[in-house]
Amino acid sequence: MSAITTTSGSPLTGQCSVPGDKSISHRAVIFGSIAEGKTTVRNFLDGHDCRATVGVMRALGVEIEVLNPTELIVQGRGIDGLQEPADVLNCANSGTTMRLLTGLLAGQQFASFLTGTAQLRRRPMARIVNPLKGMGADIMGRQNGNYAPLGIRPARLRSVEYEMPMASAQVKSSVLLAGLYAKGLTIVREPGPTRDHTERLLRAMAAPVDVIGNTVLIERPTSPLQGIDLTVPGDLSSAAFLLVAAAVIPDSRITIAGVGVNPTRTGIVDALLEMGAQIRFLHEREEAGEPVADIEVRYSNLRAATFGGPGIVTMIDELMVLAVAATQARGRTVIKDAAELRVKETDRIASTVGELRKMGAKIEPTSDGFIVDGPTELKGAPVESQEDHRLAMAMTVAGLVAKGDTTVYGSEVMADSFPGFEMTLQALGATLRVES
Ligand code: S3P
Repeated sequence: MSAITTTSGSPLTGQCSVPGDKSISHRAVIFGSIAEGKTTVRNFLDGHDCRATVGVMRALGVEIEVLNPTELIVQGRGIDGLQEPADVLNCANSGTTMRLLTGLLAGQQFASFLTGTAQLRRRPMARIVNPLKGMGADIMGRQNGNYAPLGIRPARLRSVEYEMPMASAQVKSSVLLAGLYAKGLTIVREPGPTRDHTERLLRAMAAPVDVIGNTVLIERPTSPLQGIDLTVPGDLSSAAFLLVAAAVIPDSRITIAGVGVNPTRTGIVDALLEMGAQIRFLHEREEAGEPVADIEVRYSNLRAATFGGPGIVTMIDELMVLAVAATQARGRTVIKDAAELRVKETDRIASTVGELRKMGAKIEPTSDGFIVDGPTELKGAPVESQEDHRLAMAMTVAGLVAKGDTTVYGSEVMADSFPGFEMTLQALGATLRVES
């Protein structure tokens, strides 16, 4: 087990970049596998979760060449080219891998079994299993299909018109992938805008996908999906830890180059701006159908605010580090309508409250979020990652602003989504040491 010990007092300054976007990296490998021709993926996220997707696609017969850890060539096998796997497919800790691949595998003419870590096997799967069964999929799992391991039998799917009960890009993407194998037009309606990387990338590969407001339509392609050459933008969810760190550590000023700023993901930037942070997008451009910018952020005195409603989904992975920002903001910050946090890698409401309180934060859990009073002078303390990458990074940021040293135990889990997080912080001037 590794641990990171942080010491406060050093401002963050300079330029940096963050690894490739996790959501887009998964999708590039999965969609590239069922396209024709090769898909070259640059700035691929070489983290544990995306490696799990590569492992599963290889087990399905796809040749994936790793030119260097962040550059892959996926030799597409075409829409019907996947092969029956010889063993159970291991999704490790990755919910995106399991949920998207269940959708992809539901309409194959071979059987497959998906499993993962104990943590993943505790996460709800009925949200994808039920709509897929509605399309004719034959899927089994523990507790009536709600928990992995999942077993998928061959099936011929029919299209569905599916009204999503919750705002989840994983559910949407799972049904859309099944829709590529279904007879007829599959229609998915979402209650609010969730990340749309599936739609953008499938469209870039010439798949028959249309978006009208909050409705996505897809059908079985009549001509092959086209392999493409793409550079994955930097992950805003990873950049969020640096944005908050620079916003709360006095005298900080940093620029994070090449970050994806898809509007379905930028809730954290809007939230920090509302709290008075100084953030600017520079050199806005487009890469692989996705908006990208360099993001500049400076230290500011933050003030509290209330966050909830449909915008919450656009910052769902950033709410833990937003809670850290709230401990440094003047007044009461309320985060609500975020009950989804309870079924992430950890129950992120309970885990964030539990760990931040060890540092003296004034944070109360609610059924669907947190209430944070600030500003509080956090006190350095030993804290735990609870095997949740985003909790580990949020606590590291809290440690950088706390008085005294903070040790985050179990910090190796950060590499699920942000390999090199510690080095990036060190290069910006943070004082921290890593013990393994
Ligand atoms: C993701 C969607 C979100 C997000 C997760 C990645 C994706 O999950 O929290 O980290 O790549 O589609 P939900 O779909 O469960 O909201």
